[in-house]
Amino acid sequence: MTNHNKSRRSFIKTTGLAGIGLSVLPSFVNAEPFTAGNAFTQQPLPYDYKALEPVIDAMTMEIHYSKHAAAYTKNLAEACTAEKVDTGNMKLEDLLHSISKYSAKMRNNGGGHYNHELFWQCMKSGAATKPEGKLAAAIDQSFGSFETFKTQFTDAGKNRFGSGWAWLVLTADKKLSIGSTPNQDNPLMDISDIKGTPLLGLDVWEHAYYLKYQNKRPDYINNWWNVVNWEFVQKRYEQG
Ligand SMILES: [Fe+2]
Repeated sequence: MTNHNKSRRSFIKTTGLAGIGLSVLPSFVNAEPFTAGNAFTQQPLPYDYKALEPVIDAMTMEIHYSKHAAAYTKNLAEACTAEKVDTGNMKLEDLLHSISKYSAKMRNNGGGHYNHELFWQCMKSGAATKPEGKLAAAIDQSFGSFETFKTQFTDAGKNRFGSGWAWLVLTADKKLSIGSTPNQDNPLMDISDIKGTPLLGLDVWEHAYYLKYQNKRPDYINNWWNVVNWEFVQKRYEQG
């Protein structure tokens, strides 16, 4: 258990807050950097529900994290029990790499859990507006410019029919690629059209934006760029 989780648990224990929602937790309750690894459990949100306002409203964040994402994690645990996945030893990423061998429940909820854990970390209040360093150079090289990259990624999210995700992916040959996946699929999965390590993910399910943006998904995406945590994405790129 991490120190952060320890302190969070003791904070909840001593204040009796466990049953009344996380929106009252202070901003020092941060998650460890996202590593996926064997993380089959839902990690604390790395900021308050209201931290991303006005881009994403507090109610959307609270429902998204504590209802939708929490349900994926719970259902993933059920599927792991039913299908005898040893979550103490198996890495979540390895499960996703061989997802075609498992049930639809495992695919939907394993993806749902992984994607949301990544998504929370991909955002930050008061974030830098563009990448720097090696990632900035790689984006320029791959897409021509940061603005072209943003347009292509935005289009991937806008044009995903129904529910799904837009991705910036680092492929096996260390190239950057943009794509999208349906439902809760992701580029780690062996069944995915786009494959690689997801560096940046955007949730374009209506549950991610409907309360504030209703049917205007393009407005949600355009505003979302203002809360992308480029430091986190850069770190993932450099860790390759
Ligand atoms: Fe979502």
